[in-house]
Amino acid sequence: MRLPGGCSPKCVITIFSRRVLRSYVPVQGRWRCNVAAFMPEAAGFDGVSTRTALQDYSVSNSESFWAAVARQRLSWIKPFTTVQDCDLSQGRIKWFEGGKLNVSVNCLDRHVHTCPERVALIWERDEPGSEVKITYRSVGLDYVYVCLSSFVILSMSLISFHSHLLEMTCRLGNMLRRYGVQKGDCVTIYMPPCPLAVASMLACARIGAAHNVVFAGFSAEALAERIRDAKSSTVITVNQGVRGGKIIKLKKTVDKAVENCPSVQQVFVAARTDNPVTMTPKDFALEEEMMKEDVVCEPAVMDSEDVLFLLYTSGSTGKPKGLVHTQAGYLLYAALTHRYVFNYHDGDVFGCVADIGWITGHSYSVYGPLANGATTVLFESTPIYPNPGRYWEVVQRLKINQFYGAPTAIRLLLKYGDEWVQKYDRSTLKTLGSVGEPINTEAWEWYHRVVGDRRIPVVDTWWQTETGGICITPRPSEPDAEIVPGMAMRPFFGIKPVLMDSEGKVLTSNNTSGALCIAQPWPGMARTIHNNHQRFIETYCQPHPGYFFTGDGAYRSKEGYYQITGRLDDVINVSGHRIGTAEIEDVVNLCSAVAESAVIGYAHDIKGEGVYAFVVLKKEVNTQSADLSKQLNDTVSMKIAKYACPDYIQFVKRLPKTRSGKIMRRVLRKVVERDLNGLGDLSTLDDPAAVQEIIQGHLELCGDEQP
Ligand code: WTA
Repeated sequence: MRLPGGCSPKCVITIFSRRVLRSYVPVQGRWRCNVAAFMPEAAGFDGVSTRTALQDYSVSNSESFWAAVARQRLSWIKPFTTVQDCDLSQGRIKWFEGGKLNVSVNCLDRHVHTCPERVALIWERDEPGSEVKITYRSVGLDYVYVCLSSFVILSMSLISFHSHLLEMTCRLGNMLRRYGVQKGDCVTIYMPPCPLAVASMLACARIGAAHNVVFAGFSAEALAERIRDAKSSTVITVNQGVRGGKIIKLKKTVDKAVENCPSVQQVFVAARTDNPVTMTPKDFALEEEMMKEDVVCEPAVMDSEDVLFLLYTSGSTGKPKGLVHTQAGYLLYAALTHRYVFNYHDGDVFGCVADIGWITGHSYSVYGPLANGATTVLFESTPIYPNPGRYWEVVQRLKINQFYGAPTAIRLLLKYGDEWVQKYDRSTLKTLGSVGEPINTEAWEWYHRVVGDRRIPVVDTWWQTETGGICITPRPSEPDAEIVPGMAMRPFFGIKPVLMDSEGKVLTSNNTSGALCIAQPWPGMARTIHNNHQRFIETYCQPHPGYFFTGDGAYRSKEGYYQITGRLDDVINVSGHRIGTAEIEDVVNLCSAVAESAVIGYAHDIKGEGVYAFVVLKKEVNTQSADLSKQLNDTVSMKIAKYACPDYIQFVKRLPKTRSGKIMRRVLRKVVERDLNGLGDLSTLDDPAAVQEIIQGHLELCGDEQP
């Protein structure tokens, strides 16, 4: 079976009829959306004649909905026997058991049969205008001939194999097998967005290994921690990264990380630049090793619930958690959301500019688009390199139809003015998406008015690493349904959001705020935390038994639309990157001069949130605060990543604490927000005078300007 996003005859008919009928048919004297043209499976759902009814059906008949969609949109080696076996109160989540499939076959082989010449990846390299296109196709005879020839021709063949995704994946799969990677092992990938990174992910999927992609901005220590937790024997990286015109020495970072990772036996190094790097006995040149391999790689037969990948993300404690996603449910959810949230159609060019090191890159640069047979863009650069017109120049040059980016970039670009956008032809765009953090109304309006020429929908998409794919977003909905700026608004198929009050009761009325939970399981949700199912249960299942707790707060408007108001825990969001304040505190506290610290997020007009650290020094310390600030920043950058560095470090004599010793971060937030009336009752503090000192110190550090 194939996707409507593929090239099957059935799909062509669907698209044709959609165009001819314009998706509308007369129903009971009114023009109604032809829901079966919109989603073919809906023809089998009793009484479903509108998109709204389809959404209702997907929630109230969740099993029947997901069974139909899974049968239609995934290629199964063996069909599943149960749709779901879930109990949220116990943290048991299983979908499509009995089913066997291979994710790489779903993302590659089936498209090779139907549309081999279609471009799967467009690698938008850092250097503008040097994009590389990779088709789905497997190897042709010309290529085999080249492979057998001399070195010069061999290097030509690198260009050749770089142009077919299935064959890159197969070679990498065979290579990993030759080096002893087995089904169930976990391979760590530390690479910027590039075709070899995608092929490495798919190669893992092909042979049944899990992948653990680590954002290539993370420090050696952060990388080492993730490699150790995943127990990877194999790491895949590049010699150097290139971003914003600068060289980033990624292999050096890997070398440092691997020193502290006894599990690592081999590191494959791809050549992103021509600069040689020092190779250790564990290192192998990736392209060379690939070239030794066959272009056919037998796909492993995987159970629906086998692990597809781990992805580490921050929680409210210091230790990042490796969220686990499995095969069928994740892929199906990524594919369905990609198709319907963005109104993706066969032949479209989909441009998600997120890094593959985040869940957005996994679901919407790689798995969702490839499962749908799409052409997907891998963006290696930054929004302002070589100038603030970069995104829109790329939209024009690559003829992007759906553009998916982050509010932090939009806020940055709007400051550079409209000309950078208007210079370029954006007429190919059909949908604009936003993800990662709340999008403020000003940024939303600018995105809609200037980038989208008021012509196309902007979809604010709310979701998380844990949810696998988009859960709340304005589309799909009735084609003319309103979209409210800055609101994620409507649940996706199969998603039933609920708001809880502080006593854990479900809030049933509208125009109310509460803790955002999801009332029933869906196929894309994470299954556990690697090596720590107890933490999974405690974090997501126990706060509101029977519900999945998201950690976010939300407001439901009087119309019933959802607006995400932000985290309820000590997790902050810096330029769309999730980071636990405890994670930063743990690192700050490692400095020998530091007695203790408290880190909070504050509103930042570009980054969304900035990092503000309050630091108490040990008594005997006499160092200048400027030197100490630099030292602390360097430590955070070395242990976590640059984006986690505090924007402000305020040295204080003591922190406001309750009598039981708990730091009152709420008070610190109010000080930084300059909301002194909102400090609340300070009588429960151990030492209320501490607050006055902190207010004074804050004014000295920041002056009249609120940070
Ligand atoms: C936040 C990113 C408001 C939220 C896909 C969530 C958002 C966390 C939105 C997950 C949005 C994501 N509006 N807030 N549209 N999208 N968030 O795991 O706090 O990196 O819990 O996944 O980002 O971040 P993560």
